[in-house]
Amino acid sequence: MTCASVLLGHSPSPLTSQTRSRSRRSTTVCCRCSQQEIMAVVKAIRVMRWEQVEVGEPKDGEIRIKNTAIGVNFIDVYFRQGVYPAPLPFVPGMEAVGVVTAVGPGLTGRKVGDVVGYAGNPMGSYAQEQIIPASVAVPLPPSVDHKTAAAVMLKGMTAHVLLRRVFKVQSGHSVLVHAAAGGVGSLLCQWANALGATVIGTVSNEEKAAQAAEDGCHHVIIYTKEDVVKKVKEFTDGKGVHVVYDSVGKDTYKASVESLASRGMLVCYGQSSGRPDPIPVSDLATKSLLVTRPSMLHYTGTREELLQSAGEVFANVGSGVLRIRVNHTYPLSEAARAHADLQARRTSGSIVLIPDDDKED
Ligand SMILES: NC(=O)c1ccc[n+]([C@@H]2O[C@H](COP(=O)([O-])OP(=O)(O)OC[C@H]3O[C@@H](n4cnc5c(N)ncnc54)[C@H](OP(=O)(O)O)[C@@H]3O)[C@@H](O)[C@H]2O)c1
Repeated sequence: MTCASVLLGHSPSPLTSQTRSRSRRSTTVCCRCSQQEIMAVVKAIRVMRWEQVEVGEPKDGEIRIKNTAIGVNFIDVYFRQGVYPAPLPFVPGMEAVGVVTAVGPGLTGRKVGDVVGYAGNPMGSYAQEQIIPASVAVPLPPSVDHKTAAAVMLKGMTAHVLLRRVFKVQSGHSVLVHAAAGGVGSLLCQWANALGATVIGTVSNEEKAAQAAEDGCHHVIIYTKEDVVKKVKEFTDGKGVHVVYDSVGKDTYKASVESLASRGMLVCYGQSSGRPDPIPVSDLATKSLLVTRPSMLHYTGTREELLQSAGEVFANVGSGVLRIRVNHTYPLSEAARAHADLQARRTSGSIVLIPDDDKED
């Protein structure tokens, strides 16, 4: 069985059954590249191309899913850029919702027609159809539509892990959220507000500031115009915040540390501006600070943890605590455009790709 996928790579896939002219061009250029040049090409958005690939049949413990909505996450950009390594070529994407079209031999508990979602490994969700282990599939509550679920599974479970497990936010805490109008940021602000925290968000412009305020930020700092540390001190009577959720990394590290209260925690959970420089332990000494670099995957590794985390996310969507902003939708075949917009900070809220019906190029 074949289906169309967005494929990323510098050499022809052994599974490729049909390669379009644009991809042939890309392949030819790349095959002649030196290793250094290959990395430059991988960083380019145009390296993603639309191809037919062999999907095959599910084996023991696996299911095949026809994706109906696919979540775009910044981690997809890291893999495309080579910040996180992956053998080339590969199909990007770590989040989707779809309908089960086949189950592996002897598998119980899943049947053709089930609607499921997944977030995390294995990579490969930028595809019309894909095979995943049944153990990573989560049943969708009927009240949550496919697009919303694809927009919230990975980002929502990340917010859950950050707010409920990495640093347990409670009433009376003050929190600083960078990229407060982003996919994860929007959920962090809404959820932290519902937990009773005072929420301070940073954003790049007025439009995003308005969204962050709607999403529960008590104070919004437009970092392109205002001094983040100074404003945080002003909003916290000079004390600083109990926790900083920092997904930006390199550009925000210094302000994050300086915004923390004594014994505060810096949660570095992403690096959209690049990897932060190594942290001297002495930076932490002046305020007895704590620093952690969590991955949602390490907190949802068991089936029990996965279902618990996804369950809390869907319950909060159902009760209205989390309002999911699917602000951008693209056809799957235009995933490159979604990456370009995400990287250029032109997006807010979540981005979802919708598989093109039987589109071959
Ligand atoms: N550790 C984990 O398990 C985990 C899981 C999921 C996501 N994450 C991380 O969470 C972060 C958010 O992911 P997301 O998918 O929801 O993306 P996102 O926050 O919607 O998009 C990135 C936003 O970051 C801000 N930004 C600041 N500097 C930037 C730069 N140099 N380049 C691009 N963006 C910049 C921009 O907001 P402004 O315009 O307001 O600056 C931009 O809109 C990412 O860093 C991702 O890696 C981590």
